[in-house]
Amino acid sequence: MSVTQNPVFTDWTPRHAELFKHQPLRLAHRLHESPLFSRAALASLIENYPRQSYNLVHMGPAGQRRLWREGEIGDLSGAEVIDAVEKGRIWINLRDVRRIDRRYDDLLRDVFGELKERMPSFDTENHGMGILISSPKAQVYYHCDLPGQALWQIVGRKRLYLYPNTPPFLHPQDLEDIALFGQEIDMPYQPWFEEHATAYDLEPGQMMHWPLNAPHRVENFDCLNVSMTMEYWTKEIRRKHIVNVGNAILRTRLGVTPKSRAIEGPGFLAKAVVQKALKGRKWTMRGAEKKGRPPVDFRLDRAHLGQIVDLPNAAPSTASV
Ligand SMILES: [Fe+2]
Repeated sequence: MSVTQNPVFTDWTPRHAELFKHQPLRLAHRLHESPLFSRAALASLIENYPRQSYNLVHMGPAGQRRLWREGEIGDLSGAEVIDAVEKGRIWINLRDVRRIDRRYDDLLRDVFGELKERMPSFDTENHGMGILISSPKAQVYYHCDLPGQALWQIVGRKRLYLYPNTPPFLHPQDLEDIALFGQEIDMPYQPWFEEHATAYDLEPGQMMHWPLNAPHRVENFDCLNVSMTMEYWTKEIRRKHIVNVGNAILRTRLGVTPKSRAIEGPGFLAKAVVQKALKGRKWTMRGAEKKGRPPVDFRLDRAHLGQIVDLPNAAPSTASV
């Protein structure tokens, strides 16, 4: 796709290429106009989505933190699932959409193609995409992500709170824990962090990109939300990940406090060699020792959209949140 014809980004200026990765950027886009994100298209996508590739989470009563339960769609149609999300306290995350439906893969290729045209040195790999459909007032708690990330708003409004990617908001050990244990939402958080947060309201047709690993949390306004999450790796991010895993091993296995976060030189090479040797065992790209996930213990209630039915004899889930 050429940038001059029907661009995805509609208010991009050369200045954004200089700011990208270094500063939080809220940009205008046109993905919310794509037929792939119409309510009917999303309903059809949900109906055909493989069980192992989505997470359906019930957030428990309002005011109770982290009483999250993992469930399944049951016999609801895709349209009914969206209605249930709109009426309940639920979110559904369609993970890895580009591998499930080629049309979304094409769309993501267009996005990265346009970014590469606008920023010729922006070389990325391992692109990922998820579609998050979430209830009015749903929240995503304080966390950070290892890959490069962007959040695209499609339906509804939400507020993104963004924090500096430096101590005390983010410590190297936080990144190590996420790299090794996949504990994205167990990051230390203090209420006074809010005094240092920047809030960005997002409406359909706006997206946010932020500096690598910047902690963030999200609050939906009182309306159904559909958002697209986008992630990518670069050579530099991959090297940082090797450092995170290497330092996590030093700290947790050898009792050594890591001294270096260098992404080149002999120390880095030693970490890379060790991980290469261990590859194929349990050291994966992310969450190498991911904690067990909650079992699937409810399904959506077709008779009362927005409510759930307990599953007494549910099998353990292998899905990850
Ligand atoms: Fe995130």
